[in-house]
Amino acid sequence: MTSELRFRQAGAGDAAAVAELHGDSWRRHYRGAYADSFLDGECSEYLGAMWAKRLAAREGTLTTLAEYDGQLVGLAHLVFGADPRWGALVDNLHVRAPLKRQGIGTQLLARTGEAAPDGYFLWVLEQNTAAQAFYEARGGIRQDSKHVPPPGGEPRRLNGTPKCLRYCWPKATA
Ligand SMILES: CC(C)(COP(=O)(O)OP(=O)(O)OC[C@H]1O[C@@H](n2cnc3c(N)ncnc32)[C@H](O)[C@@H]1OP(=O)(O)O)[C@@H](O)C(=O)NCCC(=O)NCCS
Repeated sequence: MTSELRFRQAGAGDAAAVAELHGDSWRRHYRGAYADSFLDGECSEYLGAMWAKRLAAREGTLTTLAEYDGQLVGLAHLVFGADPRWGALVDNLHVRAPLKRQGIGTQLLARTGEAAPDGYFLWVLEQNTAAQAFYEARGGIRQDSKHVPPPGGEPRRLNGTPKCLRYCWPKATA
């Protein structure tokens, strides 16, 4: 499928499609850490507004999209200079569920990493052991942990006090 896979940077017109993919992935993979009431309710509106704002003002960020036959199948969002020690932040990385494990995430991460030569890092839910296996397979080094920041700063959008783990790709390996 790689020959028909295309990558490009997102623009303002992509916000709705990106929010839809992101929300679908959250509902499948973040349940348990994020509250059901949030995932099944205001999540779509929250992500729609977030991506509209992000993709309208893209300064300091890079959002890479993967498309297969013109359909959005993956996204990676990078925030440059997010942390003086760890470098750029990969804030979101999602592949359309039926197309997981076909190399799309690897390509998105590689392209994102090329844009962050001074190193990059990300946070992954503690419960998301599949993504952790992916990051370890792609050279990520597990670091510290913290409590998951609630979406939009609203604690009720979380289910209890889930934790997340930092993975980093230092300058030498990024
Ligand atoms: C995590 C994610 C981005 C990885 O992308 P992907 O396209 O599925 O991953 P790839 O096909 O590039 O996988 C590369 C390698 O990573 C490892 N890997 C990937 N998924 C794995 C899994 N579920 N279990 C174990 N290892 C895995 C394997 O070594 C794999 O190589 P292989 O398939 O030849 O064995 C994708 O599965 C996804 O979107 N998951 C749901 C959303 C999510 O969890 N995002 C991360 C939030 S922090």
